[in-house]
Amino acid sequence: MAQRERYLFVCTNQRAADDPRGSCTARGSIDVRQALKEQLTAAGLAGLKARICASSCLDQCSSGVTILVEPDHFFYGKVTLADVPEIVAALARNERVERLVLSPADLAKG
Ligand code: FES
Repeated sequence: MAQRERYLFVCTNQRAADDPRGSCTARGSIDVRQALKEQLTAAGLAGLKARICASSCLDQCSSGVTILVEPDHFFYGKVTLADVPEIVAALARNERVERLVLSPADLAKG
C-alpha cells in the first residue's frame, strides 16, 4: 500500500476502571478510531491521504481521547465522535482543527 500523507495515531490504551489516570478507551477512543476509519474511507481519503492507526498510551492522558498527527507532529485532544467529520474535512484540505490542537500548556499536564 502507498505511503499516506499523514498518519493519525489514536490512543486506545485501556486501564483498570479504578485507575485515577483514566484512559482514552474509557473516554471513547475505540469508537472515535472506528468512525475516523469509516469516514476517511467514505470520503475517498484512506488510500493516499491518511491512515488511522491504534496507539498505546501517548502520555497525554489528561487530554484523552488523544490523537497524534504525523508528520505534522501535533496532538488533538478531548476528541469526541462529534469532532470526527470536522477532522476528516480538515484532512481533505490539508488543514487541522485548531480548536482541538493541544497547546504547550495542555502538553505540560501530560
Ligand atoms: S491513555 Fe491515552 S494518552 Fe494515555
